[in-house]
Amino acid sequence: MTLASRDHATIWHPLTQHQITPLPIPIVRGEGAYLIDASEKRYLDLVSSWWVNIHGHAEPTIANAIYEQALKIEQVIFAGFTHEPAVKLAENLLALLPKTFSKIFYSDNGSTAVEVALKMAYQFWRNQGETKRSRFIAFNNGYHGDTFGAMSMSQESFYFKQFSELCFAVDMFDYPGTWHSDETVLEREEIILSKLAAHLDQYANETAALIIEPLIQGSGGMNMCRPEFLQKLTALVKSYDVLVIYDEIMTGFFRTGELFACLKSETTPDIICLSKGLTGGFLPLSVTACRESIYQAFLGSDYTKALGHSHSYTANPLGCAAALASMTLLQREETKAQVKMIEQIHREELMQLMQCSNVEKIRHCGTIAAFDLLLAADYGSQVSVNLRARFLKHGLIIRPLGNIIYLLPPYCITEADLRRAYQVIRKEIEGVHL
Ligand SMILES: Cc1ncc(COP(=O)(O)O)c(C=O)c1O
Repeated sequence: MTLASRDHATIWHPLTQHQITPLPIPIVRGEGAYLIDASEKRYLDLVSSWWVNIHGHAEPTIANAIYEQALKIEQVIFAGFTHEPAVKLAENLLALLPKTFSKIFYSDNGSTAVEVALKMAYQFWRNQGETKRSRFIAFNNGYHGDTFGAMSMSQESFYFKQFSELCFAVDMFDYPGTWHSDETVLEREEIILSKLAAHLDQYANETAALIIEPLIQGSGGMNMCRPEFLQKLTALVKSYDVLVIYDEIMTGFFRTGELFACLKSETTPDIICLSKGLTGGFLPLSVTACRESIYQAFLGSDYTKALGHSHSYTANPLGCAAALASMTLLQREETKAQVKMIEQIHREELMQLMQCSNVEKIRHCGTIAAFDLLLAADYGSQVSVNLRARFLKHGLIIRPLGNIIYLLPPYCITEADLRRAYQVIRKEIEGVHL
């Protein structure tokens, strides 16, 4: 029995309609931007294995840091105990985030980082006697994870529509996604901001927080907004004394070309969520960071005001060691140069793609590029599964979001590989029509 058939007999994969999806490809090792199967076939990982693998696969600095840490201590209960990697990582992150951040809360993955942020915002007001603040504001097409709080923030999402009745009510607004040569964006931004202002006039004192994916909505379709919109948005929301949460789970760690989207947009949220690239794609770990006054609101002489949230693997030392090694790699000039190179190639190649008659809305931000294909294809539909297969036969891992094709490569990708990927894309989308 092959590994793929043994897998089929025993495993239920995430976000997969098993009836129409081919058997999974068994991967035996990774090398830079490539995943390699048992027959030595190489696959260029243009999605950084679900956006986590920022330095490439089997990166030796991170692998060694995990090994060295495992020989010292692999796991410590994080209530009543601490350890060097957790403290050092918190210090490093706080030194890089905007100065208003002063505390790091650890959890395991992107969804839990969001759950923590929502609980933090909600309880922040309750701890101060503002018990009516139970509303949240979020954006259509947003995606914040698959746990119930996170799902509530994007409940119309096609990923988990089946659960929308179980989600709690959230006030939803449009996200002003924009693209190359878009002439409508300013008007759309103004409409959204004025609707939001009218909403806040009425409900600000019942609202705990607004949550947004700054600069780019990921799973909702790689929708990109302008930094100017974020500047106006955060100023508006803060003027009503409502907390702003940035979900930087995808945008963090140079994805937008800057270390964080908040730095690129010169805006400062009250709470920020980080995960995905945090450990360079080696281990699950996440962070919810907040400003000092939020932390202070949880202090008291007994447990009642404390934040009631924990995970068994909170601040796992191996994860923290991986994250520290990843941060060292991120600070290197070579990494920054690679980020610039990727951005430049996206810019050039997208302009060429614009010549294709079935391509529209080309857009890029930092190391992320996307465009819409004029094609009716829902997420996970047969059409999009076929589209994925077209790229895979050339050894490219690209996972269209319905009709949206995007590239989000590891920073170690070579210029030649990235150019080859665009060549294949141009060839494969020719003749793909509605
Ligand atoms: C912006 C954003 N937030 C949250 C999440 C959830 O993260 P995880 O899959 O680690 O739970 C994701 C995952 O894609 C994401 O892109």
